[in-house]
Amino acid sequence: MTLDPTPVLDRPLLLVGCGKMGGAMLQGWLRDGLAPGLAQVVEPAGLPDLAARGVHVHGDLAAVPADLDPGAVVVAVKPQTMDKILPGLAPLVSSRSLVLSIAAGKRLSLFEKAFGAGVPIVRAMPNTPAAVGRGMTVLVAGTAAGEAERALAARLCAAVGAVGWVDDEGQIDVVTALSGGGPAYVFLLIEVLAKAGEAQGLPADLAMRLARETVTGSGELARLSDEPAAQLRRNVTSPAGTTERALNVLMADDGLQPLFDRAIAAATARSRELAGDA
Ligand SMILES: NC(=O)c1ccc[n+]([C@@H]2O[C@H](COP(=O)([O-])OP(=O)(O)OC[C@H]3O[C@@H](n4cnc5c(N)ncnc54)[C@H](OP(=O)(O)O)[C@@H]3O)[C@@H](O)[C@H]2O)c1
Repeated sequence: MTLDPTPVLDRPLLLVGCGKMGGAMLQGWLRDGLAPGLAQVVEPAGLPDLAARGVHVHGDLAAVPADLDPGAVVVAVKPQTMDKILPGLAPLVSSRSLVLSIAAGKRLSLFEKAFGAGVPIVRAMPNTPAAVGRGMTVLVAGTAAGEAERALAARLCAAVGAVGWVDDEGQIDVVTALSGGGPAYVFLLIEVLAKAGEAQGLPADLAMRLARETVTGSGELARLSDEPAAQLRRNVTSPAGTTERALNVLMADDGLQPLFDRAIAAATARSRELAGDA
């Protein structure tokens, strides 16, 4: 990842919720040159290591200085906590602050209602490889977010990996199903590959090691190669060979594609339900 030499922000950044995802993003911003003293974090558990580095850590929103005037407010609490924090957050937010929410299933309209239509809001759907700087975050902007706010949102998310945009907020439900939950499907692939190897006679620890290295190594090859995934697959597949036999099963009419079609459709439908569309 090439870091932009300009400071990520020269005004305070308020992060509400510093768990797995918020914590990964904060580490990314600090790596990206955010001055620790500009970071104001609300996290009930307290964060002594970050406080020791100069980050301002508060146990609840009421402790945040009322005149903070943040350049960005990043909301990274669980969706079920959102309704609780919005009233306390509203007085800290103005049309001068980008609001970036990473909460699943919380629509732009919820924030527009809580903060007013003039507040620039961007909604993000990240995923857990953000913890190692290899996340995939997809963004959608509310109407009040202009070029500068969009660029800031993208910069904040780029600190933990790749960034993409959609224009249609409805597509965020599919993004949630695909890249938001996607790491779980890949980890499941490691588990099922290992079990299948065991079933054919490999010791469990060896089967797991082979599965894990194969999935992570193939991911790295896909990342670094210019070839499309289908070609990388063909590169492993000799005519009438062993891989072809396996692919005949996996690519059959009842193989992986219909299974994933069903899985992604189910997750998309659940994302719509959680957003209150059902
Ligand atoms: N994890 C994923 O794969 C993923 C993917 C995409 C999007 N997201 C979204 O990211 C958001 C955060 O998820 P996460 O996995 O990072 O959850 P998490 O680890 O539980 O982080 C949420 C943090 O918010 C803290 N918190 C609770 N009440 C608070 C309050 N009133 N004020 C400030 N902070 C408060 C929690 O503290 P306590 O633990 O002490 O309650 C926790 O540290 C969610 O909205 C989720 O939808 C997650």
